[in-house]
Amino acid sequence: MVDEQRTSIHGQWSGRMAFILAATGSAVGLGNIWKFPYIAGENGGGAFVLIYLLCIAVIGIPIMMAEVMLGRRGRQSPINTMATLAAENGRPAIWAGLGWMGVIAGFLILSYYSVIAGWALSYVFRAASGMFEGVTSDGVSSIFGQLVSDPEKLLAWHTIFMVATMVVVARGVQHGLEKTVRFLMPLLFLLLLILVFYAATTGAFLEGLSFLFSPDFSKITRGSILTAMGHAFFTLSLGMGAIMVYGSYLPKDTSIAKTSIIIAAADTVVALLAGMVIFPIVFANGLEPGSGPGLIFKTLPIAFGQMEAGILIGTMFFALLVFAAWSSAISLIEPAVAWLVENRGMNRIYASVWVGIVTWLMGIVTALSFNVWAFEFEFAGEKKTAGMFDVLDIATANIMLPLGGLMIAIFAGWLMYQQSSKDELNMTESGYNLWLFLVRFITPFAVMIVFLNVIGVLKFE
Ligand code: PFF
Repeated sequence: MVDEQRTSIHGQWSGRMAFILAATGSAVGLGNIWKFPYIAGENGGGAFVLIYLLCIAVIGIPIMMAEVMLGRRGRQSPINTMATLAAENGRPAIWAGLGWMGVIAGFLILSYYSVIAGWALSYVFRAASGMFEGVTSDGVSSIFGQLVSDPEKLLAWHTIFMVATMVVVARGVQHGLEKTVRFLMPLLFLLLLILVFYAATTGAFLEGLSFLFSPDFSKITRGSILTAMGHAFFTLSLGMGAIMVYGSYLPKDTSIAKTSIIIAAADTVVALLAGMVIFPIVFANGLEPGSGPGLIFKTLPIAFGQMEAGILIGTMFFALLVFAAWSSAISLIEPAVAWLVENRGMNRIYASVWVGIVTWLMGIVTALSFNVWAFEFEFAGEKKTAGMFDVLDIATANIMLPLGGLMIAIFAGWLMYQQSSKDELNMTESGYNLWLFLVRFITPFAVMIVFLNVIGVLKFE
């Protein structure tokens, strides 16, 4: 009935630790440090954070286990893994479409992810040049404004980041990537802790913490519930095959449940630490928590400008943020590259270059959406600007990833032979039953309810 001996033509992680590092490298990225604080700020703080944490626990972890499990079972790119598993379990070949949707989502996400990583890259040099010394909140806003209003600069940084990503992907996931992540991730964590200590001295630490952790459900809208759920997928790299393809390189004897919990926990801690750094700075300097995608770029430089050794710490911080983004970016195109190698007979180098060029071209749209192609509109009496970046972000994080996750849960929970999933997950009876219950009943229904709620079929806020 099942082939347990499949091996991946792309190689395998050297062990459990290598997989944890790579998957954590994929999960921890701009989503935690750049996106989480700004969407928490836009959606009123505490209540949003609580919904996000709930989504991580009941949707994120079970789906991560399902994704890794499917990947390891299929041992190929998500498209071919799904095609193989569909055939093996007597299901229609259309399930390969799940892999295709993931490949498209990966392209779309990376196209804007790379532009934002470019912002972080440019801030490495700004921090190193001492530009933030004693800077005021107006000063940082204008530094940020100058950057995003300049399409040439954005395109240049986007290009550098994309080239760096392609180089690592071309070399293969095991080389380079494993080593980089092994010591950079702990260092990023350490720097965040140092910044939390700084935030504790700003005088608005408690105000920041209370914004982040005391829930006020009157601030929650249908849209914010969807954003919280979408972010749970985005931050854990779920619903598009990134974790599936990493799972396909996982050695047979590694526990999927334990590793998934470790990865989700590490990811969540980093996001919460980032929030604990940002909001005290926001309140201590009279800034606006809902000021959008520029939030960390308008707050952290103030801190670096005031603290002892701020130039060094600031430079290191933005450099580590770039590395974190880099190790995530790689996983965004790995499914497409693996497929090109499997089905088009390309070598990794060609495949990476092709994928990189397409993503780079699409990124131009995002780079221009902050300046030339930005449009202004009024919403609830407030002037707002939006552009292709917002469309891409909503289409991927809030729609495609949860939809992918929903399909993964349905396939793993309902359509796959239980013997196969049981065998692959290799857990205690009660652990397996809990996972099966979550992935069959809780996860799919939670996702569907949030979708139906946002389109207005169901109403709760
Ligand atoms: N998880 C990454 C972050 O939080 O920055 C973003 C990401 C990577 C999303 C890979 C999706 C993905 F497949």
